[in-house]
Amino acid sequence: MSTSSRKICMLIGDPVTQSLSPAMHNAAYQAVGLDEEFVYIAACVKATDLPTALSGVRALGIKGVSCTIPHKQAVIDLVDEVDSLAASIGAVNTVVNDNGFLKGYNTDCAGVVAPLQRRLDLKGKSITVLGAGGAARAAVFGLIKEEADVLIANRTAAKGEKLAEEAGCRSAALTAELNLADFEVIVNATSVGMFPKIEESPLQIETLRPGQIVFDLVYNPYETKLIRDSKMKGCAVIHGLEMFIAQGAEQFRLFTGESAPLDVMQEVVQSILVKTL
Ligand code: ATR
Repeated sequence: MSTSSRKICMLIGDPVTQSLSPAMHNAAYQAVGLDEEFVYIAACVKATDLPTALSGVRALGIKGVSCTIPHKQAVIDLVDEVDSLAASIGAVNTVVNDNGFLKGYNTDCAGVVAPLQRRLDLKGKSITVLGAGGAARAAVFGLIKEEADVLIANRTAAKGEKLAEEAGCRSAALTAELNLADFEVIVNATSVGMFPKIEESPLQIETLRPGQIVFDLVYNPYETKLIRDSKMKGCAVIHGLEMFIAQGAEQFRLFTGESAPLDVMQEVVQSILVKTL
């Protein structure tokens, strides 16, 4: 296929300069022999320019769009249809252009669900999600769809309660006294531990129990304090990078119709992070 008929996929956000997505997607196209058919680029789009950018997606026939901060909510009103899970979460991070018809999805859910499903069957499993912000919303709705038994634990209890009411699950205040021993999985969807406050953790090490699965959605730094404490306590850990790769893998599938080469994506992203983090 000639270069002129390549399908364009792109990231829009503000800022996008640090994004790992272009390298990850282009490496994935190459690995499965789709690099003559697809190319992935990034553009910094100001919030006020989002409607024009979406018109551009239609006019230029852009095949797929990854939306990041600050566009995940605003883009909902600019597409023709929103997938039901993305509508519940109230955020779209992926737009697929099917011959001019734009449909919005949320692959952050798959970013949380897929890594866990590689390790256990989620149905009926007791899972605590720490946090009640955007990342937590994607985690909670994704896990409930898979019939997990979810408890939301948030510092601001009222915010956790509100999300729990919406999603149909339990909530509690995230305090040092919170007992999580009965939970099989703990997902950290707070921003605690993120660079530069890398010595912070949302949980005391005493809260953790050997054998639990601890999934930290924070991926900068690669090894957060929570991940280090969890390993020390004998928990199984899932790094935040696996979420980033899994959400990208689901976008790859939506854009190309093929399953994503996870190993290649992981390798590329990790090699960039080793240099930059
Ligand atoms: P995101 O979209 O990345 O999820 P967010 O919407 O700002 O970001 O949400 C951040 C989450 O981290 C919230 O649940 C926040 O708790 P509050 O609702 O109480 O603010 C949580 N968080 C941030 N800093 C925290 C801290 N120091 N201790 C505990 N939770 C914290």
